[in-house]
Amino acid sequence: MGRQHQEALAEHNRAEAKIIKAQLDQAERRRVLRGTPPTGQFDAGRTVCSCFSVGINTLTRAIREQGLKTPEAIGERLRAGTNCGSCIPELRRLIVDGAT
Ligand code: FES
Repeated sequence: MGRQHQEALAEHNRAEAKIIKAQLDQAERRRVLRGTPPTGQFDAGRTVCSCFSVGINTLTRAIREQGLKTPEAIGERLRAGTNCGSCIPELRRLIVDGAT
């Protein structure tokens, strides 16, 4: 392989890497703007308990799958509601709604 060919191949590889990086960065930027987690990761949803950063999807899944029936039970599992307590009314609503 001649020197010119090697340089052309290296330039091609750099250009290809630049395009791939730009595409990933653009996808990552969109994900951040949407506020969604990277592909394949669980979306915790909007924050319900700000003291412990516990999202609505995390709560509804725990209530549904673990049969949590009280804010205290949620607190034992996820810590939500165990600090300032301002999220407890919403935790109660989620329990009453059956975490649907
Ligand atoms: S917001 Fe949930 S304990 Fe403070």
